[in-house]
Amino acid sequence: MRRNMFSLLWFLGAASAYDLVHDYSGESFFDGWDFYGSWDNLTLGDVWWLDRQDAMQQGLAQVNSAGRAVLKVDNSSNVAYNQKRNSVRITTQASYGVGSLWIIDLVHIPYGCSVWPAFWTKGPLWPNDGEIDIIEAVNVMPNNQMALHTLPGCFHPGPGQPNVESGAPNEADLDCSIAAGCVVAETKPNSFLTGFAEAGGGVWATQFDVSGVYIWFWSRPDVPASITHATANSSITDLSQWGAPSASYPASSCNITEFFTAQQLVLDITLCGNWAGIPPVYDPTCASQGPTGLCYNDNVVGPGSPKYDNAYFEINYVRAYTTGGAVPTPTPTPTTQTGDGYAVPGASSSTTSSPSANYAGAGAGIGCGVVGVAVALGLGVMLVL
Ligand SMILES: *[C@@H]1O[C@H](CO)[C@@H](O)[C@H](O)[C@H]1NC(C)=O
Ligand SMILES: *[C@@H]1O[C@H](CO)[C@@H](O)[C@H](O)[C@H]1NC(C)=O
Ligand SMILES: *[C@@H]1O[C@H](CO)[C@@H](O)[C@H](O)[C@H]1NC(C)=O
Ligand SMILES: *[C@@H]1O[C@H](CO)[C@@H](O)[C@H](O)[C@H]1NC(C)=O
Repeated sequence: MRRNMFSLLWFLGAASAYDLVHDYSGESFFDGWDFYGSWDNLTLGDVWWLDRQDAMQQGLAQVNSAGRAVLKVDNSSNVAYNQKRNSVRITTQASYGVGSLWIIDLVHIPYGCSVWPAFWTKGPLWPNDGEIDIIEAVNVMPNNQMALHTLPGCFHPGPGQPNVESGAPNEADLDCSIAAGCVVAETKPNSFLTGFAEAGGGVWATQFDVSGVYIWFWSRPDVPASITHATANSSITDLSQWGAPSASYPASSCNITEFFTAQQLVLDITLCGNWAGIPPVYDPTCASQGPTGLCYNDNVVGPGSPKYDNAYFEINYVRAYTTGGAVPTPTPTPTTQTGDGYAVPGASSSTTSSPSANYAGAGAGIGCGVVGVAVALGLGVMLVL
């Protein structure tokens, strides 16, 4: 953690009262979200993101007996070669402007070889309207990582520049406009993988403020009282016990109102695709998962259990707050194709290599030639195709 005299300014900036705008929880959790209803044509994962009716019918989106929302990958189907596996991607119908606070409380996050879950935010046009990655990790990564994606001109503070955060910024990835985004790795324990659920889950809070974007993570035992005491109706008035955020992107190096418009929240799970499935990312931890060493062949194809038994989100609530005045706005229709800015840390250089057999199994709806072209174009181009 870097501390200095400027930290006082940050703590003053954080002292705002936040009124509840929307509580997504319990039986009504899925009201107010749209379901994607297409294969993953954004990050080229080997899933079909079901529409609302199919997702509910197949139990991939459900409220369980504990009253928690579950979003999961299909683990009951035997998927034939060249087919995709069913999963879910949902996006809030409301957009939340600068001056918002979002809190998500979960007891389980999807993980496992080929699995790529995310909780993140986006505007209508990518990357022009900005993207905030709050929960995002792949395969059996031990820790979560956070990132922003923007047009050129927005940075994470560099070494020696004033900032307060507990996470580990990637000094090579400070420019939020590069393909990987400006990544900050979580350093607190139990932010992903088996440890997250074993600790009872945890909470992320994201402050989307004119003074900066700040993301906190607490494992269950460390969730501050202002959050554990909050109800589906109450305001959040005291951020003073929250400590340093895991990731801080102060406006001094990223003008928030210039690089971000109102954001929608997104929850999704894909499989393989252009982060989890590319050989430099997949191979080191998962190549021994099956006989071929290929993400699609060894995971997506065949029986879903036990491989995907842990590929689910289980969520107590998602809450959106505002500093007052600001209200959620209807999401404008994008004027051009919306891309998708997933972080691909350490993978950007590899995307220019010729596609390996990993991509050959991309499944129904796309030939490997199409994926190959996209990969050859490089991630930055591919994301906005
Ligand atoms: C993805 O598929 C949806 C639904 O078919 C379509 O509206 C959208 O334009 C596609 N996006 C890309 C990037 O191909
Ligand atoms: C509190 O929130 C719940 C869930 O959103 C709602 O059903 C209830 O009516 C609210 N109660 C009050 C007093 O506003
Ligand atoms: C930040 O961007 C907004 C919107 O483009 C602009 O009005 C404002 O002057 C900028 N602030 C600074 C400090 O550059
Ligand atoms: C799918 O995984 C769940 C746990 O997430 C497990 O309870 C269930 O038995 C699995 N389904 C099958 C068909 O094995």
